[in-house]
Amino acid sequence: MKKIVILASGSGSNAENIIRYFTNHPSILADSVWSNKQDAFVLERAERLNVEAHHFTRKELNETDQLLIEFRKREIDLIVLAGFLLLLPQKFVREFLVVNIHPALLPAYGGKGMYGENVHRAVLANRETESGITIHLVDEVYDHGKILFRAKCPVDFQDTPESLAAKIHVLEMEHFPRTIEALLLGSTSST
Ligand code: GAR
Repeated sequence: MKKIVILASGSGSNAENIIRYFTNHPSILADSVWSNKQDAFVLERAERLNVEAHHFTRKELNETDQLLIEFRKREIDLIVLAGFLLLLPQKFVREFLVVNIHPALLPAYGGKGMYGENVHRAVLANRETESGITIHLVDEVYDHGKILFRAKCPVDFQDTPESLAAKIHVLEMEHFPRTIEALLLGSTSST
């Protein structure tokens, strides 16, 4: 059985979708959810789905090996960043396979400060005609690792950050779990 842990900072719709997708999966287990925000809704979602939910501080992440040791003990195969807004320290990337989802077509609209609604606002401000999602491996440079999967959606002139977020959300729900599955089980295509 391959084990994943999910790191998230916010609402956790992706985390919930991943947990649901892998419930009763023959080869992949969503082991636990970890958040740097004590009141993040993602922790409640995980508990409701009977998945362990944990909070950690930025200090614990950056200045101790607590989390690293915990992940080693659990013998995890993959760290999934699902709306995780801190930079993951390099020690994690060196030791574990890490995958991230970004709500735009990287390499455009990536980098520091580019998360959630900020990304959609920037895309609209530049009058782009398309946006989408990028699922990529995480390396030591922000929003930079190998791209595993991208999907596009049109941006219309009447789109708002909210309506664009809704289109992106549909793509995220459809493709993130399947890309994780393909990554872990060695399939070459996630569609
Ligand atoms: C998702 O749209 C994800 O792509 C984005 O945060 C949102 C989290 O939503 N991630 C980033 O912007 C990373 N740079 P959720 O908490 O409902 O899953």
